Amino acid sequence: MFKNHFTLIYHGAHLEISFVTSNPGKFSEAEKILNKYGINIVHAPLHLEEKRSESVEEIAEGCALRAYSALRKPLFVEDSGLFVPALNGFPGTYSAWVLKKLGNEGILRLLDGKERAAEFRCAIAFTEGKDVRLFTGSVRGRVSGSIRGNGGFGYDPVFIPEGEEKTFAEAPSLKDSLSHRARALQKFGESLSRK
Ligand code: IMP
Repeated sequence: MFKNHFTLIYHGAHLEISFVTSNPGKFSEAEKILNKYGINIVHAPLHLEEKRSESVEEIAEGCALRAYSALRKPLFVEDSGLFVPALNGFPGTYSAWVLKKLGNEGILRLLDGKERAAEFRCAIAFTEGKDVRLFTGSVRGRVSGSIRGNGGFGYDPVFIPEGEEKTFAEAPSLKDSLSHRARALQKFGESLSRK
Protein backbone atom coordinates (compact mmCIF):
# COMPACT_ATOMS: atom_id res chain seq x y z
CA MET A 1 0.00 0.00 0.00
CA PHE A 2 2.71 2.49 0.97
CA LYS A 3 5.00 3.57 -1.85
CA ASN A 4 8.16 5.11 -0.47
CA HIS A 5 10.65 7.42 -2.15
CA PHE A 6 8.77 8.37 -5.28
CA THR A 7 6.91 11.44 -6.39
CA LEU A 8 3.33 11.05 -7.47
CA ILE A 9 2.63 11.82 -11.11
CA TYR A 10 -0.79 13.35 -11.37
CA HIS A 11 -2.41 14.63 -14.58
CA GLY A 12 1.00 14.00 -16.20
CA ALA A 13 2.96 16.25 -13.85
CA HIS A 14 4.66 16.05 -10.46
CA LEU A 15 1.99 16.79 -7.94
CA GLU A 16 2.66 19.55 -5.48
CA ILE A 17 -0.13 20.53 -3.15
CA SER A 18 -0.32 23.46 -0.77
CA PHE A 19 -1.49 22.75 2.75
CA VAL A 20 -3.13 25.94 3.96
CA THR A 21 -2.77 26.06 7.72
CA SER A 22 -1.40 28.36 10.37
CA ASN A 23 -0.59 25.39 12.61
CA PRO A 24 3.00 24.07 12.14
CA GLY A 25 2.13 20.92 14.18
CA LYS A 26 -0.59 19.99 11.69
CA PHE A 27 1.79 20.65 8.80
CA SER A 28 4.57 18.38 10.05
CA GLU A 29 2.11 15.54 10.77
CA ALA A 30 0.66 15.85 7.25
CA GLU A 31 4.07 16.08 5.56
CA LYS A 32 5.27 12.86 7.20
CA ILE A 33 2.20 10.86 6.16
CA LEU A 34 1.68 12.23 2.65
CA ASN A 35 5.36 11.81 1.71
CA LYS A 36 4.78 8.06 2.06
CA TYR A 37 2.29 8.35 -0.81
CA GLY A 38 4.72 10.38 -2.94
CA ILE A 39 2.80 13.59 -2.35
CA ASN A 40 4.90 16.69 -1.76
CA ILE A 41 3.24 19.41 0.19
CA VAL A 42 4.20 23.02 0.67
CA HIS A 43 3.18 25.13 3.61
CA ALA A 44 0.85 28.04 2.84
CA PRO A 45 0.41 29.85 6.17
CA LEU A 46 -2.57 31.87 4.95
CA HIS A 47 -5.00 33.03 7.62
CA LEU A 48 -8.55 32.05 6.63
CA GLU A 49 -11.74 33.40 8.12
CA GLU A 50 -13.78 30.38 9.30
CA LYS A 51 -17.52 30.21 8.74
CA ARG A 52 -19.20 29.27 12.07
CA SER A 53 -20.57 25.74 12.01
CA GLU A 54 -20.62 22.73 14.32
CA SER A 55 -19.37 20.51 11.49
CA VAL A 56 -15.65 20.17 10.71
CA GLU A 57 -16.62 19.11 7.17
CA GLU A 58 -18.58 22.33 6.50
CA ILE A 59 -15.82 24.52 7.90
CA ALA A 60 -13.09 22.75 5.90
CA GLU A 61 -15.12 22.95 2.68
CA GLY A 62 -15.73 26.70 3.03
CA CYS A 63 -12.07 27.36 3.87
CA ALA A 64 -10.86 25.34 0.85
CA LEU A 65 -12.94 27.45 -1.52
CA ARG A 66 -11.80 30.72 0.07
CA ALA A 67 -8.16 29.57 -0.03
CA TYR A 68 -8.48 28.61 -3.71
CA SER A 69 -9.79 32.09 -4.57
CA ALA A 70 -6.57 33.48 -3.09
CA LEU A 71 -3.98 30.90 -4.28
CA ARG A 72 -5.40 29.41 -7.52
CA LYS A 73 -3.48 26.13 -7.19
CA PRO A 74 -4.20 22.61 -5.87
CA LEU A 75 -4.55 22.83 -2.11
CA PHE A 76 -6.10 21.33 0.95
CA VAL A 77 -7.19 22.63 4.29
CA GLU A 78 -7.99 20.75 7.45
CA ASP A 79 -10.42 21.43 10.27
CA SER A 80 -10.42 19.46 13.48
CA GLY A 81 -11.55 19.52 17.06
CA LEU A 82 -12.12 17.64 20.28
CA PHE A 83 -15.74 16.56 20.86
CA VAL A 84 -16.78 15.60 24.41
CA PRO A 85 -20.22 13.91 24.65
CA ALA A 86 -20.61 14.83 28.37
CA LEU A 87 -20.33 18.49 27.28
CA ASN A 88 -22.76 18.05 24.35
CA GLY A 89 -19.88 17.97 21.87
CA PHE A 90 -18.07 21.02 23.31
CA PRO A 91 -15.45 22.33 22.52
CA GLY A 92 -15.90 20.76 19.04
CA THR A 93 -15.32 23.26 16.25
CA TYR A 94 -14.54 25.90 18.91
CA SER A 95 -11.51 23.87 20.08
CA ALA A 96 -8.82 26.35 19.05
CA TRP A 97 -10.62 29.28 20.70
CA VAL A 98 -11.43 27.32 23.89
CA LEU A 99 -7.83 26.16 24.22
CA LYS A 100 -6.65 29.75 23.94
CA LYS A 101 -9.14 31.00 26.53
CA LEU A 102 -9.28 28.11 29.05
CA GLY A 103 -6.22 25.96 28.31
CA ASN A 104 -6.06 22.25 29.06
CA GLU A 105 -6.52 23.10 32.77
CA GLY A 106 -9.93 24.56 31.90
CA ILE A 107 -11.02 21.40 30.05
CA LEU A 108 -9.99 19.28 33.04
CA ARG A 109 -12.00 21.56 35.36
CA LEU A 110 -15.07 21.37 33.09
CA LEU A 111 -14.91 17.57 33.19
CA ASP A 112 -14.53 17.27 36.94
CA GLY A 113 -16.99 14.54 38.03
CA LYS A 114 -18.20 13.96 34.46
CA GLU A 115 -17.91 11.07 31.96
CA ARG A 116 -14.50 11.55 30.26
CA ALA A 117 -15.11 9.91 26.86
CA ALA A 118 -13.96 12.13 23.99
CA GLU A 119 -13.35 12.01 20.26
CA PHE A 120 -11.08 13.96 17.94
CA ARG A 121 -12.53 14.60 14.49
CA CYS A 122 -10.81 15.85 11.37
CA ALA A 123 -11.98 16.83 7.90
CA ILE A 124 -9.61 17.46 5.02
CA ALA A 125 -10.95 19.42 2.06
CA PHE A 126 -8.98 19.18 -1.21
CA THR A 127 -9.67 21.29 -4.26
CA GLU A 128 -8.19 22.07 -7.63
CA GLY A 129 -10.77 24.77 -8.21
CA LYS A 130 -13.86 22.94 -9.48
CA ASP A 131 -15.25 20.80 -6.71
CA VAL A 132 -14.13 20.03 -3.16
CA ARG A 133 -13.35 16.49 -2.02
CA LEU A 134 -13.67 15.66 1.66
CA PHE A 135 -11.73 13.04 3.65
CA THR A 136 -12.58 12.48 7.29
CA GLY A 137 -11.02 10.70 10.24
CA SER A 138 -11.74 10.32 13.93
CA VAL A 139 -10.25 8.70 17.01
CA ARG A 140 -12.08 7.82 20.20
CA GLY A 141 -10.51 7.98 23.61
CA ARG A 142 -10.80 9.76 26.92
CA VAL A 143 -9.66 12.91 28.62
CA SER A 144 -6.94 12.17 31.16
CA GLY A 145 -7.14 13.19 34.83
CA SER A 146 -4.11 15.49 34.54
CA ILE A 147 -1.91 17.22 31.96
CA ARG A 148 0.76 14.73 30.85
CA GLY A 149 3.60 14.89 28.30
CA ASN A 150 5.44 17.51 26.24
CA GLY A 151 5.00 16.31 22.65
CA GLY A 152 2.41 17.25 20.05
CA PHE A 153 0.22 20.32 20.39
CA GLY A 154 -3.21 21.52 21.49
CA TYR A 155 -5.15 18.97 23.56
CA ASP A 156 -2.51 16.23 23.11
CA PRO A 157 -1.45 16.40 26.81
CA VAL A 158 -4.99 15.49 27.96
CA PHE A 159 -6.12 12.97 25.32
CA ILE A 160 -5.61 9.20 25.71
CA PRO A 161 -6.65 7.18 22.64
CA GLU A 162 -8.79 4.07 23.13
CA GLY A 163 -6.77 1.00 24.14
CA GLU A 164 -3.76 3.08 25.29
CA GLU A 165 -2.58 4.42 28.64
CA LYS A 166 -0.42 7.33 27.49
CA THR A 167 -1.59 10.71 26.25
CA PHE A 168 -0.76 11.74 22.69
CA ALA A 169 1.73 14.22 24.19
CA GLU A 170 3.51 11.41 26.08
CA ALA A 171 3.63 9.17 22.99
CA PRO A 172 3.42 11.43 19.91
CA SER A 173 4.37 8.53 17.61
CA LEU A 174 0.90 7.06 18.31
CA LYS A 175 -0.50 9.95 16.31
CA ASP A 176 1.23 8.81 13.09
CA SER A 177 -0.91 5.69 12.93
CA LEU A 178 -4.14 6.32 14.77
CA SER A 179 -4.91 10.01 15.11
CA HIS A 180 -7.99 11.55 13.50
CA ARG A 181 -5.68 13.51 11.18
CA ALA A 182 -3.55 10.47 10.29
CA ARG A 183 -6.72 8.55 9.35
CA ALA A 184 -8.06 11.35 7.16
CA LEU A 185 -4.61 11.87 5.58
CA GLN A 186 -4.30 8.15 4.80
CA LYS A 187 -7.64 8.24 2.93
CA PHE A 188 -6.52 11.38 1.11
CA GLY A 189 -3.12 9.89 0.18
CA GLU A 190 -4.69 6.62 -1.00
CA SER A 191 -7.24 8.43 -3.11
CA LEU A 192 -4.66 10.61 -4.86
CA SER A 193 -2.18 7.78 -5.42
CA ARG A 194 -4.93 5.65 -7.06
CA LYS A 195 -5.35 8.27 -9.83
P1 IMP B 1 -8.61 24.41 13.83
O1 IMP B 1 -7.30 25.02 13.49
O2 IMP B 1 -9.78 25.34 13.81
O3 IMP B 1 -8.87 23.13 13.10
O4 IMP B 1 -8.44 24.09 15.37
C1 IMP B 1 -8.47 22.83 15.86
C2 IMP B 1 -8.01 22.87 17.30
O5 IMP B 1 -8.35 21.60 17.83
C3 IMP B 1 -6.51 22.99 17.42
O6 IMP B 1 -6.07 24.30 17.59
C4 IMP B 1 -6.24 22.18 18.66
O7 IMP B 1 -6.50 22.98 19.78
C5 IMP B 1 -7.30 21.10 18.57
N1 IMP B 1 -6.73 19.94 17.87
C6 IMP B 1 -6.95 19.54 16.60
N2 IMP B 1 -6.22 18.46 16.29
C7 IMP B 1 -5.51 18.19 17.40
C8 IMP B 1 -4.55 17.20 17.69
O8 IMP B 1 -4.15 16.36 16.87
N3 IMP B 1 -4.05 17.23 18.94
C9 IMP B 1 -4.43 18.14 19.88
N4 IMP B 1 -5.30 19.10 19.66
C10 IMP B 1 -5.84 19.13 18.41
